[in-house]
Amino acid sequence: MTHSHPTVVVAPSILAADFSRIGQEVDDVVAAGADWLHVDVMDGAFVPPITFGANMVEALKCRTKTFLDVHLMVVEPERHFQSFQRAGADRLIIHQETCPHLYRSLAEIRSLGMKNGVAINPGTPIESIVDVLEVCDLVLVMSVNPGWGGQPFISSSLGKIRDLKSKLEVMKLHHVTIEVDGGINAQTGAECVRAGATALVAGSYVFGAADRSKAIAGLRP
Ligand code: DX5
Ligand code: ZN
Repeated sequence: MTHSHPTVVVAPSILAADFSRIGQEVDDVVAAGADWLHVDVMDGAFVPPITFGANMVEALKCRTKTFLDVHLMVVEPERHFQSFQRAGADRLIIHQETCPHLYRSLAEIRSLGMKNGVAINPGTPIESIVDVLEVCDLVLVMSVNPGWGGQPFISSSLGKIRDLKSKLEVMKLHHVTIEVDGGINAQTGAECVRAGATALVAGSYVFGAADRSKAIAGLRP
């Protein structure tokens, strides 16, 4: 599917979908214009809730050809790279806060044939990932504390996005995607795009909308 503004990717988070009808929910947001599907994996340790794992990715892969953007909110994510790769994940996003060997872990995701991404919590500074940007495909700036959908956007994320964008420009790493996750709606999404974001995750805003096509279109400038 082509869109008028291909420079902003919209990734609905299935966390906000009706799990009892997950297949139809996925078909519906894809038809409504989703570029990627964002898959929030939570382990009850790094974040309090438990959601789902590689078996969900496998089920989604059978249902859709849409790019699967898998956000691992789990301790020791390296233990699961192979099972998510076998399940059909297109990208694995790991948290800076969970990875003592972040550079190596990001390189390992690539060597398994997937795209990678590094996520940082609201309390984690951009400086903590500058030294791994050269092996990154994407940086996920968390604009809420991970664990739950439907939380309000934390505005200080905008300064981090601007800072990251300028660092990527100085380092000539123009291919690195800046993705934002948490509290995204038409207004906060537009602010993120103005600050330099090129991909927006949206859970409750898209799945809760009466008209999902309109909600997704409203996230593109
Ligand atoms: C939060 C998750 C988000 C969440 C976003 O831990 O990483 O992807 O689904 O939900 P909304 O868009 O409702 O803030
Ligand atoms: Zn997420």
